[in-house]
This record gives sequence, C-alpha cells and structure tokens, in this order.
Amino acid sequence: MTISKIVGTLTAVAALTSLAAFAVTPTTKMPAKSSGVVSISLPGDLGFAFKPGPGSNLATSLCLSCHSEAYVAMQPPLNKTVWTAEIVKMRNAYGAKISDDQVAPLADYLTANYGTP
Ligand code: HEC
Repeated sequence: MTISKIVGTLTAVAALTSLAAFAVTPTTKMPAKSSGVVSISLPGDLGFAFKPGPGSNLATSLCLSCHSEAYVAMQPPLNKTVWTAEIVKMRNAYGAKISDDQVAPLADYLTANYGTP
C-alpha cells in the first residue's frame, strides 16, 4: 500500500464517519403530508372564542389582542360591577384601547355570557 492509498483510505473512512454522524443527528419530524404544507392550531381553533351574542364582536376586537378568551371564561361568574372594573383595569393597568362608550356594552356582554346579574 502506498502512502497516497493509505491517505485516500483514511479520507474515505473520515468521510463515512462524518456522514454516519450526520445521519443520527435528530431532526425535527414534520407531519407526513404529501403537499409539504404544515398546519398549526391557533387559540381560536381550540375553542377559545367568545360566546356568540350581542357584544361578542366588541369583545373579539378589543380583548383578544393580548390574551385569549380563556382569561374571561376561567373567571367565576362575576357581576356587572366587577366586569366593569375588570375592563377598566385592562385599560388603565395594561393599556387596552377601550373607549369610555365601549365599557358599558362590553360589561353587558360579559355579564350576560360570563357572569351573574
Ligand atoms: C393591552 C393588553 C390587554 C387587553 C387588550 C386586554 N387584556 Fe385582559 N389581561 C391583560 C394582562 C396583561 C392580564 C394579566 C395577565 C396575567 O396576570 O398573567 C390580563 C388578564 C385578564 C383577566 C384575568 C384576571 C385579571 O384581572 O388578571 C381577565 C378576566 C381579562 N384580562 C379580561 C379582559 C377583557 C374582558 C378584555 C377586553 C375588554 C381584556 N382583558 C383585554 C392584558 C390585556
């Protein structure tokens, strides 16, 4: 065996070793889909949507920019005074963009659907 043959053999072994190392490197498994399109679920798809009813559009547009409807649904049934305070807190403490004339319709909606009179 000549020197160059030995070097050639070592190079081939090194190449195979690095290929083997590459082959066992864990890869992120994508869901098997022939089109290659991956779908994800957003909170709204998981049932975290405001209950339909008068005012639900207002809640959807004003409350979902920071958190899901689950924050509302997981509260015990609150009365209108407490829901009003909650809306005002979202505005004053967290900067929610809610105008004065939107507070009452929001409180009515939340009380009717997630509260107690
Ligand atoms: C600007 C962002 C923002 C918007 C818009 C917003 N919230 Fe919140 N909300 C928060 C933050 C921040 C928390 C506290 C999260 C925590 O403590 O983990 C919170 C928490 C809550 C909670 C849990 C109880 C509490 O007081 O912490 C409720 C209920 C709630 N929000 C209702 C609402 C409703 C109803 C609206 C729409 C009228 C709304 N939020 C809009 C930021 C927002």
